[in-house]
Amino acid sequence: MQVLEIKGKKELKGTIRISGAKNSAVALIPATILSDEETTIYNVPNITDIDALSEILTFLGAKVTREKEIIKIDSSKIENKAISEEHSTKLRASYYFLGALLSKYKKAEMYFPGGCSIGARPINLHLKGFEALGATIKSEKNCYKIEAKELKGARIYLDFASVGATINIMLAATKAKGKTIIDNAAKEPEIVNVATLLNNMGAKIKGAGTSTITIEGVEHLHGGFHEVIPDRIEAGTYIIAGALCGKNLKIENIIPKHVEALTSKLKDMHVPLEIGNDYILVSKQENYIPTKLKTLIYPGFPTDLQQPIMVLMTQAEGTSIIEETIYENRFMHIPYLNKMGSNIEVNNQKAVIHGPTKLKGTKVKATDLRAGAAMVLAGLIAEGTTYIENVDHILRGYENIVQKLTNVGAKIELKEI
Ligand code: EPU
Repeated sequence: MQVLEIKGKKELKGTIRISGAKNSAVALIPATILSDEETTIYNVPNITDIDALSEILTFLGAKVTREKEIIKIDSSKIENKAISEEHSTKLRASYYFLGALLSKYKKAEMYFPGGCSIGARPINLHLKGFEALGATIKSEKNCYKIEAKELKGARIYLDFASVGATINIMLAATKAKGKTIIDNAAKEPEIVNVATLLNNMGAKIKGAGTSTITIEGVEHLHGGFHEVIPDRIEAGTYIIAGALCGKNLKIENIIPKHVEALTSKLKDMHVPLEIGNDYILVSKQENYIPTKLKTLIYPGFPTDLQQPIMVLMTQAEGTSIIEETIYENRFMHIPYLNKMGSNIEVNNQKAVIHGPTKLKGTKVKATDLRAGAAMVLAGLIAEGTTYIENVDHILRGYENIVQKLTNVGAKIELKEI
């Protein structure tokens, strides 16, 4: 078993370079199969979720070449096969193959996707969108068979502005006949990134980044070149690390606008920040002010940074409150933080964090990806040694986390025990 061992209380100095966004890359890669030519994507993070998608592409017959952060995908010889349960459940984003294969072949077959167990995470809105475009859906024992004689543009209203549903419907509608309008679409930067790739390949998508997206169907998509945007959640995690134990820690290769919901909260807490064009400089200071926040869809405070910022709240002088509105089960890190010495109470979807508390290293678990990130942050400021189990969750989403933190002075090691 692998564990992350962190010896806490080291000052972080220097520069952390942010990788390409996981949640963009995991949609861009399945999107490339809409073309019959080679597509090259730059700035792809080296994380296990990308390995899992590459395996699915290779299984389908695509030629995948990966060198450093560049991935080349040639989908000209793809065969539309059913994606196995093992492949489907390795990650959440396998669901983008539903939209992409349906768009290209009018048929897709795969199982309910995997990913972090942070709530029910249904895919009803994805399926509702496919049906509106003319597909029929059969589901048996978690296996979905989706088929359409023809996909026809439609007006689709999403009850919830889901990132996954918005992208999946965009993929399916790209090659449908006529015009599709998605109302109450999600507005996350990852959606703009995917729409830009599809448009580069010849799609006609307007309005990505707003709540109304219009897709004019096209018959053919060609190959192209594209770059993944910087990962705003990875950036946010390291900015919080800087607030916890940094001294002029520079987080570079970021789009500051994408982390504004976080930086605005950090300013409220009196975290000293210097915000540049593509970097943020952050240092620890004493006497942080407690604050309140609610997780919301973009541009609100991202649920994916709720667990990391909670660690900072354990250091604030007074009581902070976090309300989680996106997922029903995203507080699984709290028992482990409390085991380390924090004083956090949970009341339904609200966490009440009484600070400041001293944290002490002990054995904890990464129950999901961002819970794992929170454990790493807690380990960085804890007295003594923290051992984090279930490291796989963390490696799914944070490129070279051990190396990046070691380079700026942390004592962190991945160990086989
Ligand atoms: N939802 C539905 N029906 C649907 C789809 C979503 O009700 O068909 C609801 C869910 O129940 C949940 C909310 O919408 O309350 C978000 O659902 P889901 O987890 O399906 O969100 P997503 O849009 O697919 C992406 C990211 C998540 C991130 C959310 C919110 C990917 C692969 N995942 O999920 O990332 O939390 O958007 O921003 O892009 C992470 O990176 O740690 C992560 C969980």
